[in-house]
Amino acid sequence: MSSELRLLEKARDRSALFGVIGLGYVGLPLAVEIADAGFTVLGFDLKESVVAGINAGHSHIQDVPTTRLTPLVGAGKITATTDMSRLSEVDVISICVPTPLSKTKDPDVSYVLAAGEAVTKEIRAGQVVVLESTTYPGTTRELLLPRIEVQGLEVGKDVFLAFSPERVDPGNPTWQTKNTPKVIGGVTPACLQVVQALYEPVFDTLVPVSSPEAAELVKLLENTFRSVNIGLVNEMAMVCDRLAVNVWEVIDAAATKPFGFMKFTPGPGLGGHCIPIDPHYLAWKMRALNYKTRFIEVAGEVNSEMPAFWVRKVAEGLNEDSKPVRGSNVLVIGAAYKKDIDDVRESPALDIIRLLLQQGAKVSYHDPHVPQLHEDGVELASVLLGPDTVAPADCVVIATDHSTLDYTMLANAARRVVDTRNALGKG
Ligand SMILES: NC(=O)c1ccc[n+]([C@@H]2O[C@H](COP(=O)([O-])OP(=O)(O)OC[C@H]3O[C@@H](n4cnc5c(N)ncnc54)[C@H](O)[C@@H]3O)[C@@H](O)[C@H]2O)c1
Repeated sequence: MSSELRLLEKARDRSALFGVIGLGYVGLPLAVEIADAGFTVLGFDLKESVVAGINAGHSHIQDVPTTRLTPLVGAGKITATTDMSRLSEVDVISICVPTPLSKTKDPDVSYVLAAGEAVTKEIRAGQVVVLESTTYPGTTRELLLPRIEVQGLEVGKDVFLAFSPERVDPGNPTWQTKNTPKVIGGVTPACLQVVQALYEPVFDTLVPVSSPEAAELVKLLENTFRSVNIGLVNEMAMVCDRLAVNVWEVIDAAATKPFGFMKFTPGPGLGGHCIPIDPHYLAWKMRALNYKTRFIEVAGEVNSEMPAFWVRKVAEGLNEDSKPVRGSNVLVIGAAYKKDIDDVRESPALDIIRLLLQQGAKVSYHDPHVPQLHEDGVELASVLLGPDTVAPADCVVIATDHSTLDYTMLANAARRVVDTRNALGKG
């Protein structure tokens, strides 16, 4: 029987063993959905603590409740290991490792390369490799294909390779890994067919595209779309500030137009492992092809100005109270990059805190999801939120609009509020 037919058979009877490399915000939810569909999963991670936690049934990812993980681990449907040589055991390898930027804002594909090297050592006929990490168009074919077509193995015949971007939105109660349509681009038609068969029981909807490059670009278009539109409304916030017009009122009224307008809201700037980073992967690739992606550059510029804009609003507010920033008590509400999650990666709240500290403010913060901050020289512990901590602050900055906070108390107790999310206006 050919490798392709054997894999299609294993997809049908759920006997395929899935390997997931990287058990973070993307990999762990994916592993759980695969196991829930009836397959068995062997998860791989470099961190002993992550592996030990998962094997004990404990989830370290907010979107995966421990109550969901424990029974799957108990039933032997999910196991984790740091031993990459066990990649030889699995039929499918889904790669979910980080794709950050270097200090010079170039793609850092070192994690993808390390995962690719681990695969190279173990690859055998009958295996499928799916890259899920967000990356620039060409990565799957340029970096992974040569690491898989080794020892005479041929992609599309002996082994199979595809790109399928993970679109998970942490903290989103409606759209999760399973019900968010899954885009797949195979290197050959057989690659696409095999991955579709394996992913069909896991996801509600599959969206096949004609190549890995198309699938890689889908993800970059989506996140560039968000970055550009957020950049537009952030610029509108600065425009409205100069015109003394309420930007939230303008946006809410514009959003009543039933066609041709999509609502985006201003804020403290971009955060997380996706929107501030992914568009730069495309910009980098296009620079190499002598093309400047202007929208990406401008949106990046505007969005990264936002923390400084809001810190200026704090300074202006304190000035009205005849106080300098230096020595003033500023309480920052929220450290996570968006509401109801615990992720502080690239969080603009951290930039706001850093800028305030640089100007000599005495900064404290509250975040129910982030008890401690140890980022780039910022070492703080979340304070309790109540009239006792709010009233003494010279200014309160709402950086993240977590749903569970008592905004009525905040509005009543605070002397002055800089609300980057319009959290008080929503009530
Ligand atoms: N977080 C999101 O919201 C999100 C959404 C969609 C797509 N993505 C993309 O998914 C990818 C993963 O992001 P994430 O947020 O899950 O990252 P993460 O940091 O939460 O998880 C990555 C995990 O991979 C492990 N790891 C790193 N190198 C490894 C290796 N060589 N072998 C085994 N394990 C390794 C790390 O220890 C970590 O546990 C990125 O490309 C990201 O852009 C993220």
